[in-house]
Amino acid sequence: MSHPDRFLLAGVMGWPIMHSRSPKLHGYWLDHYGLAGAYVPLAIKAEGLEAALRALPALGFAGCNLTIPHKEAALRIVDEASPLARRIGAVNCIVVRADGSLEGRNYDAFGFTESLRERAPDLRFDAGPAVVIGAGGASRAILAGLMDEGVPEIRLINRSPARAQALAAEFGAPVRAVPWEAKAQALEGAAILVNTTSQGMVGEAPLDLALDALPVSALVVDIVYAPLETPLLAAARARGNRVVDGLGMLLHQARPAFEAWFGIDPKVTPELRALIEATL
Ligand code: ATR
Repeated sequence: MSHPDRFLLAGVMGWPIMHSRSPKLHGYWLDHYGLAGAYVPLAIKAEGLEAALRALPALGFAGCNLTIPHKEAALRIVDEASPLARRIGAVNCIVVRADGSLEGRNYDAFGFTESLRERAPDLRFDAGPAVVIGAGGASRAILAGLMDEGVPEIRLINRSPARAQALAAEFGAPVRAVPWEAKAQALEGAAILVNTTSQGMVGEAPLDLALDALPVSALVVDIVYAPLETPLLAAARARGNRVVDGLGMLLHQARPAFEAWFGIDPKVTPELRALIEATL
């Protein structure tokens, strides 16, 4: 490359941060598209978030991603947040505008629905009810994504029932809370099942859910990507369900962020997936 007039900069703020795969992912694209730039891990504690975000324009950053524990706090700091980020209650991507102000966006819902599209191109979101397990931050993004795709009914199930009820009340129809005790029966007639909890992750117990009532035509999705095949996905695959692992959501949420910062809509390729899979 011959003397670009600007070195492109972006990164991810979190604490801890060294486990993040985002630098490898965006670094791959910068290289692949021949851009002079870097995407760096930024170890920022909660109390340092505001100062770190406000420093982005002065440092010449195009923006940054946010991960644990900053996604909710960033919503209160940015100068403007997209309606979707406000609805989800979290920001996972910040764009530095020309005047130095900070715009908060959320691409987690996009990453989720695009990863389903990639793995199940014939999926019709309006084909039937979805069952969503978990009512934390990840669940909020997934509920928004499923609602916006036209899923006709969303059965929300959480270990702590009050949290599912509050979330169902906040999002409104088609989301409704179903008691934890009724989770196995709630799978009846479902077209999509999504685990948004950390159950099944390395070091955690498997999600405690009997799949007998789930139609074999249903798509089973886990947002956990370490391991790639959780006990839930293994059980679903064994009985004939199509499954989608959590890596696609990570890969696809990065696309619109990269485009917003650097002007190129990058592709999620088998080569990129293999590169990130090798780090799991
Ligand atoms: P995130 O932002 O990643 O979604 P979170 O807000 O901490 O994380 O939410 C974690 C989700 O996993 C919650 O729905 C949580 O259920 P509770 O609201 O009852 O805590 C769920 N979860 C965590 N450990 C669980 C377990 N052992 N069994 C069932 N659900 C669990």
